[in-house]
Amino acid sequence: MASQNLLLLPGDGIGPEIMVEVKKVIAWFNEKGGMSFETDDGLVGGSAYDAHGQSISEEDMAKAMAADAVIFGAVGGPKWDDVPYEVRPEAGLLRLRKDMELFANLRPAICYPALADASSLKKDIIEGLDILIVRELTGGVYFGEPKEITDLGNGQKRGVDTQVYDTYEIERISKVAFELARTRNNKVCSMEKRNVMKSGVLWNEVVTQTHKAGFEDVTLEHMLADAGGMQLVRWPKQFDVIVTDNLFGDMLSDVAAMLTGSLGMLPSASLGAPDAKTGKRKALYEPVHGSAPDIAGTGAANPIAMIASFGMALRYSFEEVAAADMLDKAIANALDKGLRTKDIAAAGEATVSTTEMGDAIVAELDALSA
Ligand code: IPM
Ligand code: MG
Repeated sequence: MASQNLLLLPGDGIGPEIMVEVKKVIAWFNEKGGMSFETDDGLVGGSAYDAHGQSISEEDMAKAMAADAVIFGAVGGPKWDDVPYEVRPEAGLLRLRKDMELFANLRPAICYPALADASSLKKDIIEGLDILIVRELTGGVYFGEPKEITDLGNGQKRGVDTQVYDTYEIERISKVAFELARTRNNKVCSMEKRNVMKSGVLWNEVVTQTHKAGFEDVTLEHMLADAGGMQLVRWPKQFDVIVTDNLFGDMLSDVAAMLTGSLGMLPSASLGAPDAKTGKRKALYEPVHGSAPDIAGTGAANPIAMIASFGMALRYSFEEVAAADMLDKAIANALDKGLRTKDIAAAGEATVSTTEMGDAIVAELDALSA
């Protein structure tokens, strides 16, 4: 395999600790998996702000644009609560998404059999759960203008965010959802709030048209996003692929993540459109969880979401499906053997550290390839 460039952006909080573990996995695939990844490191979020007063430097932005894939940890923390809004840690992540045009965010929620008891829901409701949230990532209220606080001059201020979607944005994200559904259980549920939002009316219309224009073999259902949230905790196994906008996707994916027992388990992929010439997509892979500043530096962080995010890179950026399956299996095997970081341990159960979990997954890769 020709050499592939990965830009590693560990970020803040537990980001650097979990990145150390994914580096072991990347090294394993280079040494024993016949792959050839070259890695470069950069700064993002609060750590970038501390170094050069920006949430990501132009130099690191350029590296991200040129990389075959970006592997991203997490950003943010109370240390940067008072920095100006434009350079807050999250701005670095949002700039990466926007400038790399990563409009499709894939957030799988899979319940590992070994963890069926770790969910706050009853075992039969989440056992065997495998759903995929496809979240629109470069539009909607996250980026719509105007976005401002204005002084009304009478002692009052007004905060405005703008929810805006154009046809092409809804069409391209629904195509991604339909195409992915075909590789799974062939069902898409689209969620919006057409009962109160014009953008929701258009969302519903365009998803329906896109379905008619070439995806009628896929079962399509529409649900109001609030009802969708309720159904996710009532009977999540009714879903296969959920397609939704940026803000609803942010909220619903946290809910879906928690169904599986821990936010520390779930990876995500953010993909751009395939390049017209090369067919390659720009891509960024990150855990769904945040920087967890409360446990940073304690060795308690769960590296699985980060490692599984690299697994998604193998799958979606490098077409190394067998390697991705093997890495998922290595994670499942480590869990089957009873290894638990604190976030997924039952009361009184013994726990392992971030490093121990990373090493155990690497050992499972060794075992699987022996
Ligand atoms: C996520 C996060 C981000 C978001 C934050 C860190 C800006 O919550 O990726 O889900 O809101 O998109
Ligand atoms: Mg979120």
